[in-house]
Amino acid sequence: MNDVNIGVIGLGNVGSGALNILAANSEQVALKLGFNLRVTAVCSRSVATKQLPSALGDARRTADWREVVTDPNVDIVAELIGGTTVAREVIEGAIANGKSIVTANKELMALYGADIWDKAIRANINLAMEASVAGGIPIHAVLREGISGDRIVAIAGILNGTSNYILTEMERRGESFEKILAEAQALGYAEADPSADIDGYDARSKLAILSALAFGERITPSDIYVEGIRRITPQDFDYAHQLGHTIRLVCAATQTERGLILSVRPSLIRQSTILAGVQGAYNAVWVKGYFGADTFYYGRGAGPHPTGVAVVSDLMRVAREIRNGSPNRVSPFAHERLGEYQPVPIALQQRPYYLRFRVEDRPGIIAELARILATRQISLEAVLQLPSDTKDNLPFVITVEPSSEQAIQEAVQQMSQLAFLREPPLALPMEPPL
Ligand SMILES: NC(=O)c1ccc[n+]([C@@H]2O[C@H](COP(=O)([O-])OP(=O)(O)OC[C@H]3O[C@@H](n4cnc5c(N)ncnc54)[C@H](OP(=O)(O)O)[C@@H]3O)[C@@H](O)[C@H]2O)c1
Repeated sequence: MNDVNIGVIGLGNVGSGALNILAANSEQVALKLGFNLRVTAVCSRSVATKQLPSALGDARRTADWREVVTDPNVDIVAELIGGTTVAREVIEGAIANGKSIVTANKELMALYGADIWDKAIRANINLAMEASVAGGIPIHAVLREGISGDRIVAIAGILNGTSNYILTEMERRGESFEKILAEAQALGYAEADPSADIDGYDARSKLAILSALAFGERITPSDIYVEGIRRITPQDFDYAHQLGHTIRLVCAATQTERGLILSVRPSLIRQSTILAGVQGAYNAVWVKGYFGADTFYYGRGAGPHPTGVAVVSDLMRVAREIRNGSPNRVSPFAHERLGEYQPVPIALQQRPYYLRFRVEDRPGIIAELARILATRQISLEAVLQLPSDTKDNLPFVITVEPSSEQAIQEAVQQMSQLAFLREPPLALPMEPPL
């Protein structure tokens, strides 16, 4: 059978990882497919200075992506640039020229995926984006194919390796957020501007894509409540452990009778759950289906080779569909056909909560806080205070029975005005196992 030709745009971490694998694995890939995948064009702004695997031979090298998307000798364009501007032009240019697309771009697909996908369907080309969520975990294939016969009820994931690394190191070593973040930056695990990772935005893009796939809804990042990990302290881990829990940045999508509730936020999860065992930069996705119950997926969420495997596997799948002439596939944004659950505000969520206070100690504090909670029908469950050597910045924790997020937020806002509080209370939901 004839070769299928690939044009790779973006030769950074993911692009170079994918090229290394394509070069090292070309025979295996050809045996599995029954034909060759041939890289016929590569592109990056500094392509002239890039060291590329010699096995790529005489692939065209260019700094202008337009030359790749219009090249008659390219069947599939791999968009591995990132961002939402040039990358969008690349993808739309490829669609306009009848090329199929493989992308790793979570940000772009979370924001515009449904529209891009519609254009791809109209143009009768294929689009695959496995690498955009949880790098080396083939979660798209699972949701699109593996368990697509089920009805998904809930998803809970750890989708950002940097914040999971920071939290699990804080937990293991009892060091502050600031110290571990600085170390992670020095080691290259965290960006100089870490906001996308530690404030939850990167994970939010991934959850938007996963929930669109799982629930068949048009979901964009703005539908998802987001809160980062900056306020978590080693003492929060001490209190969480007392309660048999730990703290992770949990990406959750849950179908309720009122609609789909979506959030990315630090949450208490039971230490006995499988999600609590996810350490360091690993990612995991836990899916609950109505019929098939629980399935769990675990692996590296980033890195040139784990992500490169996802890109190469997508290239193989798309190439197979090109050769077999089968453009029909399960749409990852099936909103037009499903539409069963619409996203609803987080304010409707009911959970037990962990409330952590730092106060200037004086009599009557608990009574005052309990009064504010009682006016909103929030019932106290426990009060915890671990030994502390300071009276003017004393931490303690109150846990409350299941309450609405709205009531908790209102209570937190009112409590924040109290003169004895050193900072606004920290409210974290206590997530039940799926
Ligand atoms: N890194 C990971 O582990 C990982 C994991 C999952 C998904 N992703 C996603 O994969 C994508 C790529 O990430 P990355 O980490 O590989 O990024 P990266 O290392 O910054 O590489 C980006 C590449 O794109 C090229 N590029 C940028 N603008 C260009 C333009 N206008 N024309 C041509 N080439 C251009 C750059 O070229 P020059 O270097 O020549 O300027 C560079 O080769 C992103 O969407 C990211 O979110 C990354």
